[in-house]
Amino acid sequence: MIIKDALYKGLKYLKDAYYTDPRRETRRILSEILVKDISYLISHEDEELNEEDEKTYFEILNKRKLGVPLQYILGKEDFYGRTFKVLEGVLIPRQDTEISIEVLKEIVKNNKIKNMLEIGTGTGIVAITMGLECDLDVVACDISESAIKNAKINKDLLKSNIKIVASNLFENIQGKYDIIYSNPPYIKREEIENLQIEVRDYEPRLALDGGEDGLYFYKKIIEDSTKYLNSKGFLVFEIGHDQAKDLQKLMKKHFITKVYKDLNMLDRVIVGQMRE
Ligand SMILES: C[S@@+](CC[C@H](N)C(=O)[O-])C[C@H]1O[C@@H](n2cnc3c(N)ncnc32)[C@H](O)[C@@H]1O
Repeated sequence: MIIKDALYKGLKYLKDAYYTDPRRETRRILSEILVKDISYLISHEDEELNEEDEKTYFEILNKRKLGVPLQYILGKEDFYGRTFKVLEGVLIPRQDTEISIEVLKEIVKNNKIKNMLEIGTGTGIVAITMGLECDLDVVACDISESAIKNAKINKDLLKSNIKIVASNLFENIQGKYDIIYSNPPYIKREEIENLQIEVRDYEPRLALDGGEDGLYFYKKIIEDSTKYLNSKGFLVFEIGHDQAKDLQKLMKKHFITKVYKDLNMLDRVIVGQMRE
């Protein structure tokens, strides 16, 4: 089969799977298999695929049709200009989280920040990116064994020097930090069943389930954070688009807060600076 026909067949095959973007994904999959960029596919559309590549292509399309996220199939995702390994059982990096990096970098630029703790690091995208982008000591923790394994792979892959610790929230954390950051599980339990199939059936509940009201982890982290923050330190959270008001209420006793929006103009990050 030639490239042009493979792309056309792929488009038709995925067209009813509403959670896919058939045009973009068929091109991406084929370009990954051939290790060529997408412009190559267009300029070589009459090139014959070998049998093995053709087989791999349709196997991947089959998995996509079942709902397996492309990032798990390819084992990687880009974040803030770097490619991170993504293992099954670990939350897939979201582009929205790049806003967290922008906000954290601004805090580092405008304050004397020496170190940062991340709670719930997943693949390690935030901790590793911050360690590479800024001159900071970064500690990252997660309760999930798969996440710890994944973050360590990415640390090595990207030559980062962050410290990775297995910990249930602050349980195994020592010392004090200038910034504590977390993008904790924040979906209300009853809403998990309504998530799209790719997320609901393939991404780990441990990374999604924020308890009855979605606020379970925020409350736990806020409660203990003051013990682990240096004077006038920052507590920074990624939040769901409808959680800013709840978070402002929960944080106001110990923190002065500011909310930041993402590119879709939805509330996405809250920063709290500890009151003196
Ligand atoms: C929404 S994911 C965020 C992952 C990563 N920071 C990112 O933005 O891609 C939440 C993470 O918190 C971790 N987690 C859940 N409960 C935890 C706990 N009690 N202590 C530490 N981490 C926890 C999950 O395993 C998951 O990796």
